[in-house]
Amino acid sequence: MGKIRIGILGTGTISESHIRAYRNNPKAEIVAICDTNEARLNEIGQKYNISKRYASAKELLANEKLDAVSVCSFPCNHVELALLAVEKGLNVLVEKPLGTSYNDTQKLSEKVLQNGKVGMVGMTHRYRNDVKVLKAVLDGGQVGNIKHINARLVSRRGVPVGFFTDKAYAGGGALFDVGVHLLDLAWYLAGTPEPETVSGHTIQSVGPINTLTINRWRSSNPYNQDQSVFDVDDLSVALIRFKNGMSMTFEIAWAVNGPATDGINVDILGDKGGVSLNPLAYYTEKNDVLMDAKLTYSNNDWFQTEINHYLDCVEKQVEPLSPIRQGSTVVQMLEAIAVSSDRNREIVLPL
Ligand SMILES: NC(=O)c1ccc[n+]([C@@H]2O[C@H](COP(=O)([O-])OP(=O)(O)OC[C@H]3O[C@@H](n4cnc5c(N)ncnc54)[C@H](O)[C@@H]3O)[C@@H](O)[C@H]2O)c1
Repeated sequence: MGKIRIGILGTGTISESHIRAYRNNPKAEIVAICDTNEARLNEIGQKYNISKRYASAKELLANEKLDAVSVCSFPCNHVELALLAVEKGLNVLVEKPLGTSYNDTQKLSEKVLQNGKVGMVGMTHRYRNDVKVLKAVLDGGQVGNIKHINARLVSRRGVPVGFFTDKAYAGGGALFDVGVHLLDLAWYLAGTPEPETVSGHTIQSVGPINTLTINRWRSSNPYNQDQSVFDVDDLSVALIRFKNGMSMTFEIAWAVNGPATDGINVDILGDKGGVSLNPLAYYTEKNDVLMDAKLTYSNNDWFQTEINHYLDCVEKQVEPLSPIRQGSTVVQMLEAIAVSSDRNREIVLPL
């Protein structure tokens, strides 16, 4: 196989991480890019010396011979752009969240299955070495049966700037932006059990903020840079029950007037032992003694590992570690949290 020919659909802030990671991997060659924002398209084209630039994904896909794409556009059009690529028989990597509605992501998931090519969602945290260590402990049976998962990611002032606070573009606020990472990671570590009921509460607690001393993630697109549209949650909580008897408590926040967590916290509680991410630890009891073990690992570049994995899967045509079908179930749970909050009651899945 020659180089894997890549198209980048959407050249915003995150696309630069994709472009850099592809360029670091000798298997890949970036052939063309597209964006509806001409100024940004040309800025990225010039910065990375990519001459084939298109105003739409349709034009790019009609004119270029590709093997694979990265979909890096707004969440509201992830599925639309991914479907265009799938219909051309291409391998697809879609940024998180996979989409803004479960029905749409299910359609994509079915098309990917029919297409038979690689369909991956960019759940970056699955590619962390510390997560790999936890997964090894869990898969080795050292915690026994998992009973409960506690997942938290709370920031003091982490509201991103741009489309993120407009529900029509983003699907939701903290829930769909960073909540998707938290929920996916906790659910993945627990072995992706089938969700059964969801009780959620989505809250606008602090709202639009402009704390000058805090750096925030910023969309490169001019839309909504002043946060004039802010119709989403910045704090969400949920209780999810799974068909295998497991449960999960979940708390996500962009902004609170309270203590922040130091990154993603996940505790997995089993009947023989337990594990935690952050601090990374294994907990058990032996001979009437409580033992807490520190787990050792080497740091890795999560994003580079994710892109390397995508390219390996494209080369070997095998299912990736973060397949689109699982990204779709995560969107189903996120959507159910929001619907449960709107209806003020627990939701039994499917919706
Ligand atoms: N994996 C991660 O940890 C991570 C981190 C940050 C952002 N993201 C995700 O990446 C995505 C993009 O976020 P961002 O911060 O780069 O935003 P951004 O606004 O900077 O980038 C989106 C780009 O897509 C373009 N675009 C929109 N619609 C398009 C269309 N129909 N065709 C072509 N281009 C189109 C926009 O003009 C913009 O340049 C979001 O889904 C976000 O959640 C993922």
